Amino acid sequence: MILKNISIKNFETEKLLIKKPTMDEQFTLWDILRDENVNRFYFPTPDRIFIKNGLNKDNIVDLKQARRIFMEQLNDWERQKPFYEKKIDSINSEDNSQKFTWSIFLKSGEVIGQITVQPNDEYAENPAIRDIGWFISPKYQGQGLGTEAAIEVLKFMFDEVEIEQIITSAAIDNPGSWRIMEKLGFERTGEKQSTYFDDDDNILMCYCYSGNKENFLNRPSSKSKGL
Ligand SMILES: CC(C)(COP(=O)(O)OP(=O)(O)OC[C@H]1O[C@@H](n2cnc3c(N)ncnc32)[C@H](O)[C@@H]1OP(=O)(O)O)[C@@H](O)C(=O)NCCC(=O)NCCS
Repeated sequence: MILKNISIKNFETEKLLIKKPTMDEQFTLWDILRDENVNRFYFPTPDRIFIKNGLNKDNIVDLKQARRIFMEQLNDWERQKPFYEKKIDSINSEDNSQKFTWSIFLKSGEVIGQITVQPNDEYAENPAIRDIGWFISPKYQGQGLGTEAAIEVLKFMFDEVEIEQIITSAAIDNPGSWRIMEKLGFERTGEKQSTYFDDDDNILMCYCYSGNKENFLNRPSSKSKGL
């Protein structure tokens, strides 16, 4: 299946400007993302780190070692910058219909986060099944902004791009994220092991979620507000 070739649009909500990313705000986004409170559950340690260093995801010592290596890489802007440049190039390229990423700004112009509706690696054969990811600067968390951005972006993804389904997961220890999924009407479908771990060295589990347009239209907030 081929996804509809629709470009990213900019949106304005009550409190936010949700815009096609440019290089201008990427340094600030990187600076937000390198905060371990933000990347801890947002940015799983990539498989390449385990493979390259012969580390095992089921072993807490290896998991922590892989995370340390990844954090060293993540903290080095000069090393990260080419990835951000590539990201912007790819968003601007002809293929951008496959890459839906937005920078989230306050109306004052301050960039505070990012939301992505990316291909789901486990369903690579069907680009209409997508994963979703979000982060908001710690300064602005808990004010409903993540939910506000997610609702606007999903309206576009379901109505205009016509994706079929979101399949995603969030650490059980990260209620800020899975609460958004529930506010979007997504259904919890199970649990799976993650590469995240807590301060007591327990490997953490994730809740798995699935949501389609019907789930989204019947989300709790839309019934009360008649949206
Ligand atoms: C997840 C994240 C994007 C949520 O954004 P946010 O703007 O703070 O979310 P909202 O304010 O819209 O809150 C959504 C829901 O989560 C709840 N919530 C937010 N932070 C919470 C926390 N730390 N603990 C418990 N509940 C929390 C809110 O109360 C709200 O639920 P409610 O309406 O039932 O009260 C933000 O916390 C974040 O960037 N975290 C770090 C990155 C990350 O973990 N990303 C997700 C990876 S799956």
